[in-house]
Amino acid sequence: MNGMPPSSPPLLQVEGLCKDYPAGASLLGARAVLRAVDGVSFTLARGETLGLVGESGSGKSTVARCVMQLERPTGGRVLLNGRDLVGMSQSALRPLRKVMQIIFQDPYSSLNPRMTVGRFVADPIMIHEGKIPREALMQRVRALFAKVGLDARHLGRYPHEFSGGQRQRVCIARALAMSPQLIVADEPITALDVSIQAQIINLLQQLQDEQGLAYLFISHDLGMVRHICHRVAVMLRGLIVETGPAEAIFHDARHPYTQALLSATLEADPARERSKARLFFDAAQLDGRASGFMKEVTPGHFVREYGHAR
Ligand SMILES: Nc1ncnc2c1ncn2[C@@H]1O[C@H](COP(=O)(O)OP(=O)(O)OP(=O)(O)O)[C@@H](O)[C@H]1O
Ligand SMILES: [Mg+2]
Repeated sequence: MNGMPPSSPPLLQVEGLCKDYPAGASLLGARAVLRAVDGVSFTLARGETLGLVGESGSGKSTVARCVMQLERPTGGRVLLNGRDLVGMSQSALRPLRKVMQIIFQDPYSSLNPRMTVGRFVADPIMIHEGKIPREALMQRVRALFAKVGLDARHLGRYPHEFSGGQRQRVCIARALAMSPQLIVADEPITALDVSIQAQIINLLQQLQDEQGLAYLFISHDLGMVRHICHRVAVMLRGLIVETGPAEAIFHDARHPYTQALLSATLEADPARERSKARLFFDAAQLDGRASGFMKEVTPGHFVREYGHAR
């Protein structure tokens, strides 16, 4: 439109992402491959949370690693603020890594047992900013500790001296060190006690409100996904089978797999829980069928259909 500024690209735009892994023995010289991610596309806006759900092995973590370029995709594009990361050299990626960070399920294995947590949080600052005066660095680390609700007097301690929830806070503090715009959270609360889960979720939401962070939130906990995600994408066998606003997914699921996934989650109301029908979805029914196409059923709500694309 005349006089309008060009709209800025979404924070993250993933287009046709594919990832193959070698699988099994080679047959007649041809290497068998497993297509763990098969043409996944989605966008994520600034300040938005997209939930990525689906059965174990459906490719969620592979999407996370490929978005972060911790693993190189076999195909497709990953555009961060409009710039394609796929095929970029490590040195070109380095400054962009400040913008996106990842946190994992098991905070203990993310931490270095021989490094104090203060040093762990300071590490990315030293990597990206080189030598900075010690007192200025300490001040930054203390501020990060405060932001995630950790006692800055404990920054000289080692990971084993913290609880699971505190360790995840340390990982979040490190992720925040470079003021990212995107945090990929791969089951960040799965390993934690239920009460601690709520605390970590509250922290993530508070950080989103304060800093406009966007989250790609991978979880098996549909209740939590419903609680915090603006939009949801459901994965099955490397494909997104349904995606849309959280409201649409939870109240108007159309794909039989999404319906089965939702029917397996506990209702808060025991009476409703007892009367609810369990739905089952046998993925084998898709064996040998074409992967279909995504059809928009209501605005922004897409469902995979297996008929003929027009
Ligand atoms: N490094 C690898 N080498 C070979 N195959 C892999 C590798 N990483 C993942 N896979 C395979 O890719 C598929 C997708 O795995 P992925 O870890 O992405 O699933 P997921 O959806 O995160 O599952 P979960 O919910 O259990 O974490 C699986 O079949 C898995 O075995
Ligand atoms: Mg996973």
